[in-house]
Amino acid sequence: MQHVGVITSGGDCPGLNAAIRALGKSGMSVHGMRMIGFLNGFRGLVQDQSIDLDLDQLSSILTDGGTILGTSRDKPHRMLIDGKVQDMTDVIVENCRRRHMDALVCIGGGGTQKNALRLKQAGLNVMTLPKTIDNDIARNDISFGFDTARSIATEAIDRLHSTATSHNRIIVLEVMGHRAGWLALESGIAGGADVILIPEIPYEIEAVAAAIRLRTQQGKRFSIVVVAEGAASIDISRQMDQLVERKKKAGTREEKQSLFLQLDQFHQEHVGNTIKLTRHLERLTGLESRLTILGHLQRGGTPSAYDRVLATRLGTECAEHIHRQEYGVLLAIQKGTIVPVPLEDVAGKKKLVSPGHPLVRAARDVGTCFGD
Ligand code: F6P
Repeated sequence: MQHVGVITSGGDCPGLNAAIRALGKSGMSVHGMRMIGFLNGFRGLVQDQSIDLDLDQLSSILTDGGTILGTSRDKPHRMLIDGKVQDMTDVIVENCRRRHMDALVCIGGGGTQKNALRLKQAGLNVMTLPKTIDNDIARNDISFGFDTARSIATEAIDRLHSTATSHNRIIVLEVMGHRAGWLALESGIAGGADVILIPEIPYEIEAVAAAIRLRTQQGKRFSIVVVAEGAASIDISRQMDQLVERKKKAGTREEKQSLFLQLDQFHQEHVGNTIKLTRHLERLTGLESRLTILGHLQRGGTPSAYDRVLATRLGTECAEHIHRQEYGVLLAIQKGTIVPVPLEDVAGKKKLVSPGHPLVRAARDVGTCFGD
């Protein structure tokens, strides 16, 4: 009997329970595996906190948001334990060996791919499944969670339209996506946003204001601006690029870490930046402006049918791979098919929107402004 551990790691998203259920049910019923769920991401592996998954526990969770296992952003090699940041990789490996675990499935986003690779390099049989509302995992067309978040953001844009029109206002909607613009781009297209600002296309506030003024001249006295949390003006984006360059060349680990923190700081300030953007647009256009930050609403609640199906396909395929003792890969979706991709090819890389992407072109063709 194969012993298989599973964790969910990073930010939660709709579809996690569907994936745990699919992996667990097919693992136990089809392949006769024993399934162990570790709690709260990589921390559960360190503290050896787990539950034995049985078919009863996996029943009725398909449609639930969140994750029955809990999650965290803990990293094996930099975990806060007793007030000190420590490398707990060896402890995880030891705990897995002691429990005679044949495989560990890490369900997560970009950060999880890096952490899983570290455990692979430390000798564990690791598999990963792609989840994230950001849809930014390299070599993977779509991660589960994205479709649900895209629908929630689209519904928000639809609802904002009627109030923006009634009051002749600009409404700015900030959506998540970390450093990638997929969520803003796709929900913006689906909701017919007038302006879409994404990290991959730095904006000039004057260009945004000019597009809104033009709409006013055409008799449209409202505008919907969808801004990705990672979007930045040309100036800020230049400063961030410089930090990234310095980080690449940094000689010491401390220097790298300090630059990483500075970059992260820029990201943490996204709400402040979006507030400034909204006020600035009001001044430049003379139109009353309001801001909505969609936040964690995008990650909560029941998964869409698409995400349930995707998570179920990935979970069952993963059990199949483990049964065949094929490990060390992300199960990615490429052109609709599940493809195993070595973790080395995924970890530390991001799938970003290229400025010439067909979706950007389609949005431009229907008159959407990107602020460039
Ligand atoms: O990675 C998913 C995500 O929702 C990002 O879009 C966002 O930047 C981040 O997580 C928010 O993280 P937290 O839930 O830790 O605030």
